[in-house]
Amino acid sequence: MALNTLNPTETKAWKKLEEHFKSQKNVSLQDAFKNDNNRFKDFSIHWEDFLVDYSKNRVSKETLSLLNDLAEECGLQKAIEAYFGGDAINETEGRAVLHTALRAKESDQVFVDGLDVIPEIFAVKEKINQFTSSIISGEHKGFTGKVITDVVNIGIGGSDLGPAMIVEGLEHYKNHLNTHFVSNVEGDHVHEILRKLNPETTLFVIVSKTFTTQETLTNANTIRKWFLQHAKEEAIAKHFVAVSTNLEKIKAFGIHPENVFPMKDWVGGRFSLWSAVGLSIALAVGADNFEALLKGANSMDTHFRKTPFDQNIPVVLALISVWYNNFWGAESEAIIPYTQYLRNLPAYLQQGIMESNGKSVDRAGKSIGYQTGTIIWGGSGTNAQHAFFQLIHQGTKLIPADFIGFKKSLYGEEDHHQKLMANFLAQTEALMLGKNEDTVKKELMKTDKNQEAIDALLPFKIFKGNNPTNTLMIDSLTPESLGKLVSMYEHKIFVQGVVWNIFSYDQWGVELGKQLASVILTDITKETKNQHDQSTQGLLDHLDA
Ligand code: F6P
Repeated sequence: MALNTLNPTETKAWKKLEEHFKSQKNVSLQDAFKNDNNRFKDFSIHWEDFLVDYSKNRVSKETLSLLNDLAEECGLQKAIEAYFGGDAINETEGRAVLHTALRAKESDQVFVDGLDVIPEIFAVKEKINQFTSSIISGEHKGFTGKVITDVVNIGIGGSDLGPAMIVEGLEHYKNHLNTHFVSNVEGDHVHEILRKLNPETTLFVIVSKTFTTQETLTNANTIRKWFLQHAKEEAIAKHFVAVSTNLEKIKAFGIHPENVFPMKDWVGGRFSLWSAVGLSIALAVGADNFEALLKGANSMDTHFRKTPFDQNIPVVLALISVWYNNFWGAESEAIIPYTQYLRNLPAYLQQGIMESNGKSVDRAGKSIGYQTGTIIWGGSGTNAQHAFFQLIHQGTKLIPADFIGFKKSLYGEEDHHQKLMANFLAQTEALMLGKNEDTVKKELMKTDKNQEAIDALLPFKIFKGNNPTNTLMIDSLTPESLGKLVSMYEHKIFVQGVVWNIFSYDQWGVELGKQLASVILTDITKETKNQHDQSTQGLLDHLDA
């Protein structure tokens, strides 16, 4: 089934939401809580080890019910079935979107073009298990008979961000292997990593869905050359493995056929960490933890697929975000994990969300007249509090934010964790409550400032408050809970794409830059002399001067 091509702004629900917005514009969150003793209970979802509190949002029961109507009118339920069922919902590339199948149970069946893909997924997983345990146990030896100590993931975009974020996120669960990530086509980046490595004890994992990506192939070739300065050609088989859909190109690169971990074209790059792209994750934390990550994602998949919209975490979060994006005019969303382990979650989600939903043509091929994908940014708390929080508290922009925290820390440093959690809770409270003129005045009166000084300082110390946040409180950071969290955001992306009537699973917008870079490269290497605009030409000349 193809997804429908309904313009959301033409639905009844959208029109009602426009009217409803007028009545909500001036509602204060503080009043909403004062008028409803059950607001926290009614506006939060407790599911497994997740508590999702969305009560500090500028929404009423009516808002949520209208947003639900919008999802229904946009055909969300049918779309979910098409998504999980393997329909070719990535229409512009003619592909299914089946990262969910990668974490399905062995007893499940998921068909693509009439073929059940589950047996092959489990065969690849088995290969990952065997390979990772031979590396971790030291059974697999390098070309001089030494055990592997370092793993280098060579990839970019989805072939880097997901594995890198998860390996960092699960650092607590890591084994003895040192894991490195080379992504940028910057020689300095490559050499900074290489200088830490011993070729005799390093495994290189080349990850590229297409195996045509300039950055990855350039880095892989440079690293191969470096390796061959220390070893003979036949040693490559012990030190280089590849993950890709493009088996021909892998062969041409010289990777031993046994060292190939295949993936399918129905896995989008930014959703691929669950596939063989997650090989570096499995190496870093072991196959059991990788499996637990998949299991967590699978439970969130089931929750998303089976739960009524008003209790469905990804649906509720997606719709609230639509409310801010399309009715309140919010341009961005901040993601603030209160754990250093997840400091790169915002960067990972930038690709997931912005590459998916940064579109301006609808599913009928028409130019869109409403807002789509939000700008994603963020950083880890409490560091972020000392960096950009000023703007969220007192700036002019509306920035809905997700606060993600864990009830328990991993090392059990009680004093630290209490302070971390105090900050976690204080920030969303402060963002909502703000501080009014009276309170600021009273505080200033208690100081030794005179009236004139108090009056001068007063306006700067007022916080308007009423800033919306979601709080996700999770029991603890485990492979399973991290799997749930990432899957939650994946489904949020899907819901928003359905409502906005866009194709979330292609990324044509990244192509033009790639094309022009290959043209400019031939100018830089002096093979050609192409015509450029005045600015680009001036810059090219300066580079050469
Ligand atoms: O940036 C575009 C993109 O195609 C991403 O979607 C993808 O994750 C990345 O490039 C890397 O692609 P590949 O895995 O094919 O090297």
